[in-house]
Amino acid sequence: MNRLCKILNIRFPIIQGGMGNISNAPLTAAISEAGALGTFGVGTRTPEEVEPILQQIKRTTTKPFAVNIPISVTKYGKEWIDLVSKYSVPVVSLSAGNPANFIPYLKERGIKVMTVVGTVKHGLKAMEAGTDIVVGEGFEAAGINSPYEITTMALIPQLRNSLSIPIIAAGGIGDGRGLAAALTLGADGVQLGTRFIVAKEAPFSKRYKEKIIQANDQATVIVGRSVGKIRRLLHTPYAQQLLTEEQNGMDEETYFRKTTELVHWRGAMEGDVENGLMNSGQIAGLVYAEQTAEEIIDSLIQEAKQAITELYKSYIV
Ligand SMILES: Cc1cc2nc3c(=O)[nH]c(=O)nc-3n(C[C@H](O)[C@H](O)[C@H](O)COP(=O)(O)O)c2cc1C
Repeated sequence: MNRLCKILNIRFPIIQGGMGNISNAPLTAAISEAGALGTFGVGTRTPEEVEPILQQIKRTTTKPFAVNIPISVTKYGKEWIDLVSKYSVPVVSLSAGNPANFIPYLKERGIKVMTVVGTVKHGLKAMEAGTDIVVGEGFEAAGINSPYEITTMALIPQLRNSLSIPIIAAGGIGDGRGLAAALTLGADGVQLGTRFIVAKEAPFSKRYKEKIIQANDQATVIVGRSVGKIRRLLHTPYAQQLLTEEQNGMDEETYFRKTTELVHWRGAMEGDVENGLMNSGQIAGLVYAEQTAEEIIDSLIQEAKQAITELYKSYIV
């Protein structure tokens, strides 16, 4: 139990990242039940749509869980603060925007705040704004990424040297060796997205899960560079279509229209590789099988212990 586990009141320093509109109660609750921190992402949904899902999570687990608010993606602000307070949500993760307008209101209500950043500058800003925890997300990660394209390996030790508060490493972590490496780089815990796509409890399409399991190290691409809004996807026919249209000068508005949460839903929930997108991190090549959330979390912990022990035995005499 390290300081991150103490702050979040969880057993293992493992967090499930928010997953936009495909976030759901069964996966969030299963991850929290297994001793890590499940996260429900609000995406572009309305507070009225999210309220029954929070009720469902609370019916399924009494363990702590988080709600992710992607600031520049959602139309709502105060409504989320009211909703998370109403349901005594213990942790809120803020991403994709300036967290300063949210943090004081959340902290006033006793809610712990994690802020997702892709650079040291943004980490410092989040710390000054009062965040309890910073999530350093590298460019290996699935979904919307920082345009600075800093990798987890480079970002985490630099964040560690600049910040005194706990840091969670996100992006490119798929097994216990990744967890051990992140701790060595100075993180207090890890956040995973891609590995949890194949959790048995995740109600995603069979095709999405199969594509993650079949993926190798070259399976993902970055779209959106031409408009300065990048996102990591599985290289499906739809992703290729986006790349081709970018080469032909796609404007920002068209890019946004073609990467909405509806398009995300079509890919992830309906398995439509021609008309929908599938978020994935580079670590998909390390995901080999569908497992329960508990099996995934237990294996991460066992593998991390083994990696640290073997390293200690081999190099330190
Ligand atoms: C399907 C999917 C949707 C995602 N949507 C969000 C989101 O809404 N908000 C967010 O902060 N991060 C989002 N992410 C990023 C994850 O929360 C997490 O930080 C990331 O996946 C970690 O990197 P990894 O994929 O290499 O494990 C998403 C990731 C996936 C796989």
